[in-house]
Amino acid sequence: MAELIVALDVQTRAEAVEKVKAIGDDVGFYKIGLELFTAEGPDVVKAVRDLGKKIFLDLKFHDIPRTVERAVRSGGKLGVDLMTIHSVGGKAMIRAAADAAAEFGPTGPRILAVTVLTSLDQTDLEDVGIVGRSPADQVSAMARFAVANGANGLVCSPKEVGTLSAALPKGTLFITPGVRPAGSAVGDQKRVATPADAVRDGATHLVVGRPILAAEDPVAAAKRILGEMR
Ligand code: C5P
Repeated sequence: MAELIVALDVQTRAEAVEKVKAIGDDVGFYKIGLELFTAEGPDVVKAVRDLGKKIFLDLKFHDIPRTVERAVRSGGKLGVDLMTIHSVGGKAMIRAAADAAAEFGPTGPRILAVTVLTSLDQTDLEDVGIVGRSPADQVSAMARFAVANGANGLVCSPKEVGTLSAALPKGTLFITPGVRPAGSAVGDQKRVATPADAVRDGATHLVVGRPILAAEDPVAAAKRILGEMR
């Protein structure tokens, strides 16, 4: 059964706690990203954990292996469940992240790799020296590379998850943002899929922000998405 993760894209710890309480028991997993973490730090992670929720700490590490290893260890000590790294950080960096996470055992953090940011197109890739590979080919290559070097899963668009889940070992995690329930506002997302499509194509976790956070009735919105996932 795929899990729903709500992206806690707010600016303060108070707002974060208020949203988590308002959404209630239906959602057990929250994503804390750069905006909220930079503003509020580990305290916001602890506050959401204290409400009994699991945490996806989405800070997309990309640094030398030793630094990433130590940052992942810090995340493990905070008790987070999922963390992200950039696969372009290289083999040694991915292994260092995976090894640091493994120190926390089966309930420790799982490491997810970002392959190619969905904001980048072919020209952007060429600008940084990736020539002769389409974004889709680069996504597939980096996904295999990251998993072969110890990443537990991938962050990917719902349009990619079918191909990737067919190509990668069983047990790989696939986390897909860009999910919109049928008939809801797309916002600035360009390549969206419904919760049912994403799950059918192999997503293990769906990340949904505005369709729940900005809903008049967030509880009903979460229930509707969970229903579509089932
Ligand atoms: O509000 P919405 O459902 O679009 O939020 C999606 C969340 O997933 C946001 O936190 C966004 O930063 C994140 N995300 C994304 N697309 C990616 C990677 C992350 O939408 N390619």
